[in-house]
Amino acid sequence: MSEDTFPLRGIDYVRHYVNNARQSAYYYQHTMGFSITGYGGLETGFRDEASYVLEQNDIRLVFSAPIRPGHRMADKIALHGDFVHDIAFSVDDVDWSFNEAVRRGAVPYEEPKTLSDENGEVRIASIRIYGDTIHTFINRDNYKGVFIPGYVERNEPGDSIGIVEIDHCVGNVELGGMNKWVKWYEDVLGFANLISFDDKDISTEYTALMSKVMASGNGRVKFPINEPAEGKKKSQIDEYLEYFGGAGVQHVALRTDDIVYTVSRLQARGIQFLSVPKTYYDMLPDRVGEIDEDIEVLAELGILVDRDDEGYLLQIFTKPITDRPTLFYEIIHRKGAKSFGKGNFKALFESIEREQALRGTL
Ligand code: FE2
Repeated sequence: MSEDTFPLRGIDYVRHYVNNARQSAYYYQHTMGFSITGYGGLETGFRDEASYVLEQNDIRLVFSAPIRPGHRMADKIALHGDFVHDIAFSVDDVDWSFNEAVRRGAVPYEEPKTLSDENGEVRIASIRIYGDTIHTFINRDNYKGVFIPGYVERNEPGDSIGIVEIDHCVGNVELGGMNKWVKWYEDVLGFANLISFDDKDISTEYTALMSKVMASGNGRVKFPINEPAEGKKKSQIDEYLEYFGGAGVQHVALRTDDIVYTVSRLQARGIQFLSVPKTYYDMLPDRVGEIDEDIEVLAELGILVDRDDEGYLLQIFTKPITDRPTLFYEIIHRKGAKSFGKGNFKALFESIEREQALRGTL
């Protein structure tokens, strides 16, 4: 691969804008087993918003809510519902990252600034991407406190479900937007197109979508980008765009090293997953060959399997976690495979269509 023209250390945090950050924090703590590690709000000097920081291994989520009328965040939440607003990157040099991204065509969101308190300082800046989503560049090398200045430590451990890092984040964009954003990630952030799927790969009798997977120079950050394709009925991407109110983050994939454990815990705590017909598992041995897991256990939990040249992967998708059919999560366990489960697309999309039919949006 060619040289890395835009060094990113990795995803630092994913910030959600929500109506009630306290309840979102509780939900993620008690379902996905995140620990609440930080808080910022009225008590810490913020006058118009409250935020909770949640962590599990290398995953950091932040939930922010407006706490007075007229906040710009409230307008965005009114439009989209609770949503992923920011996928933040840890970088060596925030000023270089921001200025270089803008020079290469990014639209600024917040100019570089230094936040400081008695624990040190953090440099931070942001650029816009699709819809109301942004990328923040952050460097906290000179900061000893929790998260960023303005936050205090919270020590409210969750009961971990064994998820270790963010594997990828997927964006849904409008028809015709995919190649525009593919080029944007190439031009601005030096990403490369890892894999492409067209509507022949990702279609059922009724609906279709197109997808391209973009990866950062060091390969650590992976962003598939989807757009709807023509089908007999409304695709899941169209449904998302309609209910979300434009382009946005569709799902976040969390990587585990023990998917049976992770999914068992999530199901016991009430997280609902998409299911596939039992016949999927009848065909599984022929399709993927030898695997370490007991197929009956996988069938019981609804876990899917796919194989590529380098190994295999196990994956499962939650139903949307909001009232709107928008954001959902994927749990993924990689056993050598670096791909995204192409062999499961058809079974999965048929499952999504069954859900869409129930919602009357197919
Ligand atoms: Fe995914």
